[in-house]
Amino acid sequence: MAEMEYGNIISIEALAPDIYSMWIRCRAAYTSRPGQFISLYMDDGVHLLPRPISICDYDAEKGALRIVFRILGEGTAKLSKMLPGDSVRLMGPLGNGYPLDEVKGKESVLLVAGGIGIPPMVALAKEIKKNNQDIRIISVMGYRDSHIFLQNELEEVSEFKITTDDGSMGFHGTVTDFLKNNDVRPEIILSCGPKPMLRSLYEFSENIKSTLYVSMEERMACGIGACLACVCKTKDMDDHSKVKNARVCKDGPVFKASEVEL
Ligand SMILES: Cc1cc2nc3c(=O)[nH]c(=O)nc-3n(C[C@H](O)[C@H](O)[C@H](O)COP(=O)(O)OP(=O)(O)OC[C@H]3O[C@@H](n4cnc5c(N)ncnc54)[C@H](O)[C@@H]3O)c2cc1C
Ligand code: FES
Repeated sequence: MAEMEYGNIISIEALAPDIYSMWIRCRAAYTSRPGQFISLYMDDGVHLLPRPISICDYDAEKGALRIVFRILGEGTAKLSKMLPGDSVRLMGPLGNGYPLDEVKGKESVLLVAGGIGIPPMVALAKEIKKNNQDIRIISVMGYRDSHIFLQNELEEVSEFKITTDDGSMGFHGTVTDFLKNNDVRPEIILSCGPKPMLRSLYEFSENIKSTLYVSMEERMACGIGACLACVCKTKDMDDHSKVKNARVCKDGPVFKASEVEL
């Protein structure tokens, strides 16, 4: 079960303009799964709500986990200025994570992510590979420009393909355009990224009759299922609440794409 704790920052490093990688020693590292996230508290008396950030990687032996984040506003800017040795209050691991059982027995799996949806793909690709050395993992990652991050980590465990919005590296265009152009037809697709990307990916997956799971990075408040700030619309009614809603922080952030309104 997730608990509140103070993590100790081991290292912080800039990977690209405004993109930072941070390793944190914390108990959450021992139980983390790919696709889960941690909530980080700023504890400055101003930013009261925690900032949810996906778990990019974890090392249970060292009791450490890695996050990779983009500076968007004041919370992430503050986080980027923290130093090794600083402590940060956090809660985690939170959320459901990717359905690794769904990948079992498959010959190949396609991972698709864009921008700040890319970090959770590292732990995901590693865990899939650890469970099945023979599986073919294709990762198609969409970046804005030539400031590529997490390339080495993903290349180690997958066939790594780059797309860029400005054409400065790899395929010029969106991840979905790349998949259409290259006739990629996997049985299962696991993804994370902005809503427009997830929508076009869903259309693509329906056309090729592939199962798609999406991780939704909605705005959140409490992060633990208590406030309903993060609900998304579902196609079926929830048995318990009798509404067509799901809490992204608690029921997600990973959903089967056919079960939610994107
Ligand atoms: C499950 C989950 C996992 C996430 N994983 C990552 C990650 O691995 N790396 C990463 O960099 N970011 C991730 N995010 C997004 C991250 O939580 C926000 O960027 C962060 O909370 C912004 O905080 P801030 O104080 O810097 O900006 P704020 O001042 O809170 O916001 C700045 C601006 O960004 C907008 N904004 C804030 N949060 C979001 C959001 N979730 N979606 C769209 N717009 C938003 C605000 O409306 C505002 O306009 C994740 C979000 C969720 C819900
Ligand atoms: S953020 Fe409060 S219920 Fe999800």
